This record gives sequence, C-alpha cells and structure tokens, in this order.
Amino acid sequence: MREQISPALSVSGAIQLPGDKSISHRYAMLAGIAEGPSKISNYSTGADCQSTLACVRALGAESETKDGIVCIHGHGLDGLHEPAAALDAGNSGSTIRMLSGILAAQPFVTTIGGDESLSRRPMQRIMTPLAQMGARIEARENRFPPLTIRGAKLHPMEYTLPVASAQVRSCVLLAGLYADGRTTVHEPVRTRDHTELALREFGADVEVNGLTISVTGRPHLEGRQLRVPGDLSSAAFFLVAALIVPESSLTVHGVGLNPTRSALLDFLVEMGAQIKILDVSSSGGELIGDVLIRKSHIRGGVLEKARTAALIDEIPVLAVLGAASEEGLMVRDASELRVKETDRIATIAENFKRMGLAIELHQDGFEVPGRQKFHAAELDSFGDHRIAMAFSIAALAADGPCAILGADAASVSFPEFFDTLQRVAR
Ligand code: S3P
Repeated sequence: MREQISPALSVSGAIQLPGDKSISHRYAMLAGIAEGPSKISNYSTGADCQSTLACVRALGAESETKDGIVCIHGHGLDGLHEPAAALDAGNSGSTIRMLSGILAAQPFVTTIGGDESLSRRPMQRIMTPLAQMGARIEARENRFPPLTIRGAKLHPMEYTLPVASAQVRSCVLLAGLYADGRTTVHEPVRTRDHTELALREFGADVEVNGLTISVTGRPHLEGRQLRVPGDLSSAAFFLVAALIVPESSLTVHGVGLNPTRSALLDFLVEMGAQIKILDVSSSGGELIGDVLIRKSHIRGGVLEKARTAALIDEIPVLAVLGAASEEGLMVRDASELRVKETDRIATIAENFKRMGLAIELHQDGFEVPGRQKFHAAELDSFGDHRIAMAFSIAALAADGPCAILGADAASVSFPEFFDTLQRVAR
C-alpha cells in the first residue's frame, strides 16, 4: 500500500491510542495459562498481538473478542495441548521469543515460525537459556525461526543476560513458572518490566531486586479482568509530530507511563519539549495518564548506554526529531537496532538519503546533524511498522507531498495510525 502524506501546518486535538503492544502480549499469554476466564480491554489491535492470540487459541485456550474486549479462557499451567499445526508468530519477535518460554515446558513438540522478517531474527538468545533449563530446541541454521521446541520438565536456574532484552528476560521467567523452585535472571540494564507486573497480577510470586528478578515456579495463576494502557511507543510518533510541525498542541489520553518506558518523556523534556502529564492513575500495576504536548524549541541530544536500551523502539522517530532539532541527535550503543524488524540503522539511513537529510552511520548507531530541511521524496517502510510511521511523521515537515511505500506495515502495531494522523494533522 502506498500512502500519500502532505506537509502539515499543525498537529492538534486529542487522541486515544490502542493498547500497549508489549503489555497485550503478556496479558494474552498469561491468561492462556491461568485458570478460568480473563477479560482484557483495550487489547492492542496490531497484527502482532493478534498473532499471539491465535497462538494461544491454537494451544487450547478459548478466546473471542466481544464488544472490543478480548476474553480468554485458560485451563491452568498444565492446560495447554499440542497444536494441530505449526504456530505462526507473523512478524512478532515478542510472540516467538516469549511464548517459547512456555512451549519449552510442555509435554509435546511445537513448531513456531513467522514471516520473512521474523525468519531472519536471532533466536540463539532464547535457545541458550531454555536449553540450560532442560528444553531441546532446533532452529534453522541453529539460530533462525522456525523453531521446533521439544518441551521437557524444566529445572530452575540463575541466568545472566548477555544482551539487554525484555523479551529474553520474559522468556526465561515464563519458563521459570514451570520449574520447581526459583528461577533468577540478572539483566545488564533495566528494561521494560511488564512481565513482572503482569505475573503478579495473575498471582505469581515475583521478586525484584535492582537488576535481579526471580519467580517461584508452579504458582496458581488465576484469570483476571485487566485494561491495557495506551501504547506510549505509538504515542511517540504523534509527540514528535507535535514537536516538529508549527502551531501544534496535542493531548494523548490514557497512555501507559510505566517508568521503564517513560524515559521517552524525560528525554523529550531534556531536549526542550513542553510536556504536561495529567490525571495519573494505575491499573494492573501499570501507570496511566494523559500527555499534553505543544510545539517546542528542541535543542537535540545524545542517546547512549542504558537510555538507548530504554528508548530502543522510539529511535526511528527520534532520528526524525534530531534532524529537525537545533543541535542534532547522536545515538550510540544501539546495535540491537540492526536485528529488529529491519536493520533499522540501514532503513533510517536510506529514507534520510531520499529526503536529502544528512546522517553519519556507525555500527552501533548514528549521528544526525540538526536544522536540516526535509525534502519531499518517495519513502519506504521496507516492511517495518516503525519505519513506516516514523517517516510518515517526517513527511509532515517536508517541502511537498511524500509517498510512503509499504505503508500497511504500520498495522503490525497500529492499524489506526493513518486515520489518527489524518484527524490531527492539518
Ligand atoms: C519488547 C522488547 C523489546 C522491544 C520490542 C518489544 C517487549 O525487544 O524492541 O518491540 O515487549 O518485551 P528486545 O527485548 O529484543 O529488546
């Protein structure tokens, strides 16, 4: 699909975003192995989270969506059954990596794979710890999907993550639910903690001590009623739009403000963004609030170390902001970007080149000079949802209409993106 985006004079109004992708995956997986019914409102409408739902259903938890509420009926930790066919995780790294933790403990063999992009993403990072817990996993070329997972009786372990990855940490913790005793994970820097919060909501015993997280195996998990906060990573596109388009003033209602995700807002404020947070409440252990933002003078900044890990999904749109800022943006310690849905350092650079924007590349990041002019161009998502959306936002500040090829990729996390953009951009 080819989407045409015209330059905007303002991005204004109020929007509400579909549920957070990370939290939706976790609620669906845990509801699938809990006892009894769960009702999840504001579940992500993105294709990735629908892939998780389809997998959970294929494994024997009944699920239906009624009046926008996802109802999942789990049959307990041992209630899953062998799926009739291979599981399809679509484009979703979270689905294959986190669900593998559960599959590794099942008394049956499961094959799980996905689309072309997912089939190029590294799986060794979950295969190593799961093998140490007792599972046997085969992968294409020993590291890529599809995975064939021969479940086994798992034993608890203590594991130090070699990469900062919430998906890997979550995979090990989910496997730990099936091991007798305590499973402990040490992570190099703090990453999103939705798994720990969700595990507690469903009744598991989780302990967090700095960068060490442990879970006690064989808990009794019970179905819950939960509401998923709006997705802050989806909000990021609109926040940046409001910062780079003149005359903008935008309110994003009901967005997730979990401190392990909200480094985005701190970073924007540090760069000069005028942001107000109102009406903060909490649900399912997650903070939720309204974010008000208006066009501001953005100085620029540096993303490195722990902060890079905390903002990893927002970097494509922050690159766009960097080019419009006074002093530009430097990103380091971001080699994980090379193994996302696309090599995002390369796909950012290609679209920058097409818009006539300067960027200097490094193996683990890039530098973008500030005060650049955005030229109209034919841009490409390269099949990556965050690249589709980041460059649709860049197009709002271009000197003429831009085309986004493969714009439908946005539906992986945010099917309503273009409709929402049309409502607020004038
Ligand atoms: C996610 C963790 C991050 C992030 C992804 C979602 C999660 O991946 O990029 O979009 O829900 O745990 P990594 O764990 O690979 O860093």
